[in-house]
Amino acid sequence: MPKLNENYQNLKESYLFSEIAHRVAAYSQAHPDQKIIRLGIGDVTLPLGSLAIQGLHAGVDAMASSDTFRGYGPEQGYEFLRNAISEYYARNGITVDPADIFISDGAKSDTGNISELFAADNTILIPDPVYPVYVDSNVMNGKTVTYLSGNADNQFLPMPDRSIAADIIYLCSPNNPTGAVYNRGQLEEWVNYALENEAVILFDSAYEAFISDPGLPRSIYAIEGARRCAIEFCSLSKTAGFTGTRCGYTVVPRELVFKARDGREMSLHAMWNRRQSTKFNGTSYIIQKGAEAVFSPEGIRQCQENIRYYQQNARMIADTLNHKKIRFFGGIHSPYIWFECPQGMESWEFFDYLLTNAQIVGTPGAGFGENGRNYFRLTAFGSHENTKEAMERFHRLF
Ligand code: MLT
Repeated sequence: MPKLNENYQNLKESYLFSEIAHRVAAYSQAHPDQKIIRLGIGDVTLPLGSLAIQGLHAGVDAMASSDTFRGYGPEQGYEFLRNAISEYYARNGITVDPADIFISDGAKSDTGNISELFAADNTILIPDPVYPVYVDSNVMNGKTVTYLSGNADNQFLPMPDRSIAADIIYLCSPNNPTGAVYNRGQLEEWVNYALENEAVILFDSAYEAFISDPGLPRSIYAIEGARRCAIEFCSLSKTAGFTGTRCGYTVVPRELVFKARDGREMSLHAMWNRRQSTKFNGTSYIIQKGAEAVFSPEGIRQCQENIRYYQQNARMIADTLNHKKIRFFGGIHSPYIWFECPQGMESWEFFDYLLTNAQIVGTPGAGFGENGRNYFRLTAFGSHENTKEAMERFHRLF
């Protein structure tokens, strides 16, 4: 009989968004005539920009003739895409060497898989509330995590606690689920704390394209010293609407070298390369061609147009909450609006209430951690029409 990975017993029965989908499907089946508006999972609704589409077509065409056909690609991703990403960083004033970039099918896989590089006895700091993948992937590997409290008092931007000697720190800014964004001084504090402790920051910047204030850092590498202590994960899902197309990238600087127990030096870059070349055969050439087009100046301009559309939705949601005098966070440099559940409800209770009474799907804060128990998340990724209708329904509720 196989001995199973019993750490799975320590997980919630299903992944947050699967649980929501399941509840919504049950409701929809029981009420087939009702129009449900989905503002739950952060899934985009606008089509890809024309440049991305042209890039994808070019990739398909290349597959049709023997002189341009591609089989297995380089394990880190094609150089043309790594260069395009490095240039995108450079246009935002950040230096990232293309050789440090690994292309993947998205930040979800990489933020989940990275935990394999670290031993079980690390002190792992994870904010609460948080994107559930960070916690679940550690639990699957039998690791214990220490929570950093994010709450209304610290604006959901927890800062280092020097009484804890962390080894690994997960940060996400702009934050999922709260929409809060660390400023430069705050990230400098985190980088200094990591360097003092010889810790590694796992920085998820999947929502960086929503930052509209040039004074706010869009990458951990905007902070001096970060190359010596941070891995960054990013994705085209929210930047370019690639939630279904799938492409992401992870930066593992070659400076990240630590001593093993036997005194030998180990490079996280070399380990990640070893891990990826063993377990991953790369993102499809076609998708990488689409992604390359996204990172051209015109491709990014098209992405920004879509982002502005979503930001208008965020404002619509924020206006409704302001009108109702409901306290909220995020929604400015983020597609997420995080608010206190009205009338003292708990988040799953409010989820059911909103679905039953207004046919709106959101995400209960409890799914992101204990500190989210009385909070709720709405996404700005819907259409204007649906967001407007959802807000009219919300308005009529209480
Ligand atoms: C979310 O809704 O939190 C995100 O869409 C999940 C993800 O990016 O995997």
